[in-house]
Amino acid sequence: MTSIQDYSSSTQGDNQNFGASPETVRETDHYQAEYIEEFADRWDRLIDWDARAQAEGDFFIRILREHGARSVLDVATGTGFHSVRLLREGFDVVSADGNPNMLARAFRNARNRDLLLRTAQADWRFLNRDIHGLFDAVICLGNSFTHLFKERDRRKSLAEYYAVLKHNGVLIMDHRNYDRLLEGGGAVRNGKGNVYCGEDVEVAPEHVDEGLARFRYAFSDSSTYHLNMFPLRYGYVRRLMSEVGFQKITSFGDYQRDFENPDFYIHVAEKEYRFDVDTTMH
Ligand SMILES: C[S@@+](CC[C@H](N)C(=O)[O-])C[C@H]1O[C@@H](n2cnc3c(N)ncnc32)[C@H](O)[C@@H]1O
Repeated sequence: MTSIQDYSSSTQGDNQNFGASPETVRETDHYQAEYIEEFADRWDRLIDWDARAQAEGDFFIRILREHGARSVLDVATGTGFHSVRLLREGFDVVSADGNPNMLARAFRNARNRDLLLRTAQADWRFLNRDIHGLFDAVICLGNSFTHLFKERDRRKSLAEYYAVLKHNGVLIMDHRNYDRLLEGGGAVRNGKGNVYCGEDVEVAPEHVDEGLARFRYAFSDSSTYHLNMFPLRYGYVRRLMSEVGFQKITSFGDYQRDFENPDFYIHVAEKEYRFDVDTTMH
């Protein structure tokens, strides 16, 4: 089923170079043109680090510890929220991202908290070209995987995450509940959820169809930015993960094991070879 919704077209006054027909921009590489320096500078107002830390509690830390993880590769570091949290909790963290503006901001954010980030600029599709060594865990959080527009890019990136994990490593990845958005149900709670918690910004979907979710981020200083994303369906993501080799996938909704119609899904995918599992999805 293809559902097309047009949420009233709004201001285009941003500097992100989407061109005259922004809904036609459906390319994996375009994230580089989206995370421009001024958007990177505002990203933390969208997140609100304190509110986000409170909303997620120790969810990720608990899962990492339950899996015995010590070394963590944050592949979507962004401005560093999870890298900083995990460093403070004593994990051994490498912070990667394809976008230099976001990485520079992450490094500065960590420095301001007396921490040094070990950063690496790396695109997920070629992760193992730039990242050496193996990790207990890979995290890809904050609705990041959604930036991949081609199926082969999603498969390749998952394969790269798989390859950089130790034999019993774990991948933790989240995404918005796009199923709900595609089906026309309550789009986003004005973006005030448990991931993007900032009060200073209005988040709204501007265009949604099976191949694109275009979101507008309007800040109180009148600046407006957009992200074009691929709307990942819950079942599709789980299937892809299992097809690249993850044998056990446990999913959560809004940090809960029992969930119904959450804002965000979180998948915990285990690499370990299991002789005892006849079903891959839990
Ligand atoms: C939505 S932000 C999330 C950042 C952070 N994890 C958070 O939760 O705040 C997505 C991040 O993924 C990065 N990204 C998108 N596509 C990428 C790719 N193909 N390779 C590497 N990084 C990518 C972007 O540069 C951006 O920093």
